[in-house]
Amino acid sequence: MNYKKEINRLKKEKNALILAHYYQIDEIQDIADYVGDSLGLAQKAAEAKVDIIVFAGVHFMAEVAKIINPGTKVLLPDMNAGCSLADACPYDDFAAFKARYPDHIVISYINTTAAIKTLSDVICTSGNAVKLVESFPKDQKIIFAPDRNLGGYVNSVTGRNMVLWDGSCEVHDMLTVEAIIKLKEENPDAKIVAHPECKQQILEIADFVGSTTGLLKFTKNDPAKKFIVATETGILHQMYLQSPDKEFIIAPSDETCSCNDCPYMKLNSMEKLYLALKNESPEITMDEQLMEQARKPIERMLEISKKLKII
Ligand code: 13P
Ligand code: SF4
Repeated sequence: MNYKKEINRLKKEKNALILAHYYQIDEIQDIADYVGDSLGLAQKAAEAKVDIIVFAGVHFMAEVAKIINPGTKVLLPDMNAGCSLADACPYDDFAAFKARYPDHIVISYINTTAAIKTLSDVICTSGNAVKLVESFPKDQKIIFAPDRNLGGYVNSVTGRNMVLWDGSCEVHDMLTVEAIIKLKEENPDAKIVAHPECKQQILEIADFVGSTTGLLKFTKNDPAKKFIVATETGILHQMYLQSPDKEFIIAPSDETCSCNDCPYMKLNSMEKLYLALKNESPEITMDEQLMEQARKPIERMLEISKKLKII
């Protein structure tokens, strides 16, 4: 089966759009209509005028696409493509946590379930978290969930003291500062770039911290020729495409371990993408009321991002 040819044929026939995250396998990134970070993907999903969106990413991303574009059929090639951060914040536990801080607003990272979004005032992504937090008055009391690493990073950059939910991404949280320092010693000419889901010690030694799109832009525009990249491996595909003359070393570069392959992102395959388009399944379906409640904080994020020109 020539999946590439069949997917392109079905895409045309069914008026479908393929959105892919940078952590998808290379072949999926190559066939997608748009590849981006969570913010870019949400913005594309919001403006899409198609019959079907095939979301090559993880569940919370496809859920956001459905919530902000409810009239469009949204397919996720593998329904088991979850996210350890979203799993780290169960609804009942978070509702009880929130109740302890009645004078705080809730800013939630997009890596959450729709149910958690209904408990949130505004959503953020790694691409807009700092600016979004700064858009609130300095004395505004804030709960940030679910990523303690991203929340801690935003606190350090903005000088805020947000109350943090204690969640983390199993992929980024496994990266160690020791392994990165060792790599840096072996490659003193390399700059370190890190996703804010990494631990604080890594973020402190990084030359640049940003979302996947941010990391990509930085490595393209910076004059350095070599980079140590502290995030998921999938991003390297676009880095090499956009900067073919540069060298990228994934951290930690331990050949015996593929710890920084996201096991959820990597569940999607060309075969599953083809089958999803062919069968128009598995489809994201959600309760109308849940969608309506979860939409408000997402729309608020999109509005603020537009106003602040964050893309
Ligand atoms: P980005 O929005 O930076 O692409 O991050 C999404 C994600 O899940 C990182 O692990
Ligand atoms: Fe979730 Fe981490 Fe995978 Fe991103 S890399 S989708 S945060 S588990």
